Amino acid sequence: MPSRFRWFVLGIVATAVAFAVGAYLFVESGGVSMETTAKPLPLEATLAHMALRASIGDAGEQKSPIAFNDANLTAGAHIFKERCAFCHGLPQQPPTDASRGMFPPPPQLFVHDQMVTDDPAGVTYWKVTHGIRLSGMPGFPEVLNDTQRWQVTMLVAHADKLSPAVLAELRP
Ligand code: HEC
Repeated sequence: MPSRFRWFVLGIVATAVAFAVGAYLFVESGGVSMETTAKPLPLEATLAHMALRASIGDAGEQKSPIAFNDANLTAGAHIFKERCAFCHGLPQQPPTDASRGMFPPPPQLFVHDQMVTDDPAGVTYWKVTHGIRLSGMPGFPEVLNDTQRWQVTMLVAHADKLSPAVLAELRP
């Protein structure tokens, strides 16, 4: 190997090792706080969103196999109250304790600017099925069957246009 090339390769390896050691020492010395109240690290949100988008892939194209009607929305409301409200809140209620103490905070899915009504239902179904690692959002494949996951997905996807009958089911 010509010696200039060898030094070039050695330089790259040394830089990579220096980065790895630097990252290790940064984390080891407490540079990455695990407190929920700590400020997000630079790029933390960007990287997390990038990884989430890549994991979701084209799941948004999946269409709901169940009918959009009050029976399915009512079933979704019961599931939501039992499994989701502790974190994601209920209509007309103050933010939950979990939303004030977790990082990232669970969005209050019945508060207007935090709703997921603009997301394709397939994306919400993916999140309810798989959860979001390192965020506290559980996946529910063991707890809810496909139909139940679509019912609760349908409920939060239409959170801004629920009938009075369905809203009544969501009273605390
Ligand atoms: C233990 C708390 C907790 C429970 C219980 C929980 N979630 Fe979540 N959920 C979270 C957190 C935290 C996030 C935010 C994740 C993030 O920002 O990446 C989240 C995110 C979401 C999102 C994405 C919101 C957005 O703005 O993109 C949806 C949809 C969702 N949850 C639906 C549900 C449903 C439906 C249930 C019940 C079947 C549920 N969650 C139960 C904590 C929870």
